[in-house]
Amino acid sequence: MKRIGVIGLGYVGLTTSVGLAQLGHKVIGYDLDASKVESLLAAKPTIHEEGLENALSKLLESHDLRFTNHIEELQSFEPEFVFICVGTPQDASGAADLTIINSAAQEVALILPAGAIMIVKSTVPVGTCQKITKSFNRSDIFVASNPEFLREGTAIKDFMEPDRIVVGSNSSEVSKKVMSLYDSIDSPKLETNLESAELIKYAANAYLAMRLSFTNDIANLAEATKANVDQVLLGMGLDKRIGNSFLKPGPGWGGSCFPKDTSALVSMAKGYDSALPLVESAISSNEAAFKRSVDVIESLAEGQLMNKTIAIWGVAFKANTDDTRDSPALRIIDLLLKRGAKIRAFDPIARVPEAAGLSMASSAIEATKGADVLAILTEWPEFSMVSPEQVVAGMKNSVVYDARRILPESWRPHFSVFKALGEASK
Ligand code: UDX
Repeated sequence: MKRIGVIGLGYVGLTTSVGLAQLGHKVIGYDLDASKVESLLAAKPTIHEEGLENALSKLLESHDLRFTNHIEELQSFEPEFVFICVGTPQDASGAADLTIINSAAQEVALILPAGAIMIVKSTVPVGTCQKITKSFNRSDIFVASNPEFLREGTAIKDFMEPDRIVVGSNSSEVSKKVMSLYDSIDSPKLETNLESAELIKYAANAYLAMRLSFTNDIANLAEATKANVDQVLLGMGLDKRIGNSFLKPGPGWGGSCFPKDTSALVSMAKGYDSALPLVESAISSNEAAFKRSVDVIESLAEGQLMNKTIAIWGVAFKANTDDTRDSPALRIIDLLLKRGAKIRAFDPIARVPEAAGLSMASSAIEATKGADVLAILTEWPEFSMVSPEQVVAGMKNSVVYDARRILPESWRPHFSVFKALGEASK
């Protein structure tokens, strides 16, 4: 059992706090936001995540986990380790903005006891941990990098059952101490230098984003050539060197990581005079994917969107999360609004503020009332359970575009036009 502080209680910090406490450590999560801390202390999760509420109540009750917005409380706890989990958003140039992490590291360095290890979990450009190490005048505290690989929706499970754990530092003694926090997890464990650990995170995310862009481009080609996209991707994925996960075509990739991390990686590489043309292409392919869906919806709306009502199912960037950050659905909605469409959106959990031309419906069926086209933009499983008869009964035109390929075949006969992404409309 170790005493651990976690700085920043967003997606990564909260999951990390809960995960470390579940591993048997004593954890204090710290965030500047008093209302967030208050909510977490009342065991009310500030994010939608499977298993989180239950885990929170148990860990608060057992006193293995607590939260605070007072740095002095963290100081008197004398943490042996502090995880830095603050945001590294994209700045105006596309690079990672390190203002928050730099000031968090400075603040924490002032209160850490001698011998403590500061562990950077935030995604940071290569060289950041070295700079942080040099930025404070203390040779008695150490810095390590331990990137997170959590997927929203399965973050707790990903923490407890990771594909691998990566720890980087300047000293194998420090790396071993950090790795020992995960002793009870049985997974491959990789110790590296600081720079490699930092780059592994970006390289993994950029590779996955590239794979999805490739998948979406192949889906587009399958549509043009009348190939069956599911069969093509299955046939590809059965090659063990390729594998079949992360091969689901969709309206583009989004979320809090891929867009900002691909952009930051390209920007970082430029700083080293090193080109990453594949990652740059993946980003532009993704922009093209959003526009492709808008063009499809326009063609399904008889060639023009001005004053047409488009029902949208799903605004979250993927299913099982309420997160709409860089959501493909929002990018598509924005483009539809610019072409004059009226949007009636529904999502089981995620909410977006209503705006000119955009209203949120209280149910999937309600969203489709009077609609010219229904477009499915997030793969919530419940959408495929809605009755197609009821949908069609209220729509102006029985036209559907399934950009996530989740609707069952039984829907097809109910619609005059049923178009799934990657297949030509009949
Ligand atoms: C991602 C990485 O997977 C995770 O390892 C990292 O730490 C954070 O970023 P996350 O953003 O939660 O996780 O979402 P992920 O499940 O990877 O999906 C990202 C986007 O790709 C979503 O828009 C999703 O809909 C899309 N996607 C994913 C597909 O379109 N098809 C797929 O097969 C998989």
